[in-house]
Amino acid sequence: MKKKVIGIMLGVMMIASLLTACGTKETSTKDSSNESGSIGKTVGVCMPTKDLQRWNQDGDNMKKELEKAGYNVDLQYANNEIATQVSQIENMITNGVDVLVIASIDGGSLGTVLADAKKKGIPVIAYDRLIMETDAVSYYATFDNYKVGQIQGEYIVKALDLENQSGPFNIELFAGSPDDNNARFFFNGAMDVLKPYIDSGKLNVVSGQKSFEEVATLNWSTEAAQSRMENLITAYYSDGTPLHVVYSSNDSCAIGITNALVNAGFTKDNFPIITGQDCDIANLKNIIAGLQSMSIFKDTRTLAAKVVEMVEAIMKGEEVPVNDTKTYDNGTGIIPTYLCDPVFADINNYKELLIDSGYYTEDQLK
Ligand code: BGC
Repeated sequence: MKKKVIGIMLGVMMIASLLTACGTKETSTKDSSNESGSIGKTVGVCMPTKDLQRWNQDGDNMKKELEKAGYNVDLQYANNEIATQVSQIENMITNGVDVLVIASIDGGSLGTVLADAKKKGIPVIAYDRLIMETDAVSYYATFDNYKVGQIQGEYIVKALDLENQSGPFNIELFAGSPDDNNARFFFNGAMDVLKPYIDSGKLNVVSGQKSFEEVATLNWSTEAAQSRMENLITAYYSDGTPLHVVYSSNDSCAIGITNALVNAGFTKDNFPIITGQDCDIANLKNIIAGLQSMSIFKDTRTLAAKVVEMVEAIMKGEEVPVNDTKTYDNGTGIIPTYLCDPVFADINNYKELLIDSGYYTEDQLK
C-alpha cells in the first residue's frame, strides 16, 4: 500500500517536473531579451578532421556564429576516424545537446547512433556531406556539389579552348573518397561537361582510367593521390608523352598530384592544368607559383551563417530555410537542403575574391 502511494507521488512529481521543463522551454523561446531562443541551448558540432584546413575554418566559423547567437557549442573533430566520430556523437546525445550539426567522415556509418538522437528528439543537420541511410537527418546544408564539378569541367574546356581546338589533349582524372556522398556529385558534374570531349577524342585519358571507382581517392588522401600520380607518370608519361590536364576534385588531392609532378621534373613551363576545390592556403600558393590552375572557393562563412539560421529556425519552430527539395535522397527519402553557390578562383581573380573579401590576408599567401 505504502509503495503504491510513493509510486503515485513519484509519478505526480515527474509529471510536474516535465511540465515545468516544457514551461521553461516556452518562456526561453518567448523571452524578448533572447529572441533567438538560444538560452541554455547547446549545439553539438561534429567535424571530420583537423588535418584539412577547410574543416578547421568550418568549425571555427560555426562556433563563432553560434556563440554570437547565444548558444553553447560543443565542437569536436574526429581525426578522420569513424569510431571516434560515433563516440563523440554518443557523448553529445548523453550530454543532452539540443541540435546536432554533423560533417560526417563516412556518410553511411552513423545510422545506429543517429537512431538514438531521433529517439531523443534531437534534430540533425548534415553539414556539407549528406548522411546516408538514416531517417534521423532533418536537414542538409552544403554547397551545390554537382555545380562544383561542372565549374571545374568548364574551366578545363575554356582553358584548352576545346570548342575550337582539336587536340588531342592528354588528361588524367582524380575523384574523391568513395564513402563521401559529395565525391560522386563532383565527379559527375565534371564528367557531364568533359565526357563529350573524351568521346570525340579531343580529350584523351591516356591511362584509360575513367570510371569513378578507378579514379577515386580514399579519404581524399594527399599521399594516395601522390602515389597514384607517380604510378601514372611512370607507366604512361615517362617517355615524354605530354600531360595537358589533371582533373582533381579537391585541393588535398591536387597537392599530391603537384608533388608527384614536381618530383618527376615537371616545371612551370610544361605543367598541366590542375583543378581543385577549397582554396586552401597551400593550393593558393601553388596557384600563385603556376603549379595549380584553379580551385573552387566555398566560403565557409556563408555555409556557417546559413546553418546558424537553420538552427535558429528549428529552435523557434519556424520554417527552416531550404532551396532544394529534389536532389539529395539519402536512401530514406529526400532531405530538404540549402545549397550555397560555389565559384572558382584562379590567378586572375583570387585577390579580389579571397583577399579583398577578408577571407585571407596577403601575408598568409606568401
Ligand atoms: C568537401 C570538400 C573537401 C572534401 C575533403 C568534401 O566532402 O565538400 O570541400 O575538399 O570533402 O575533405
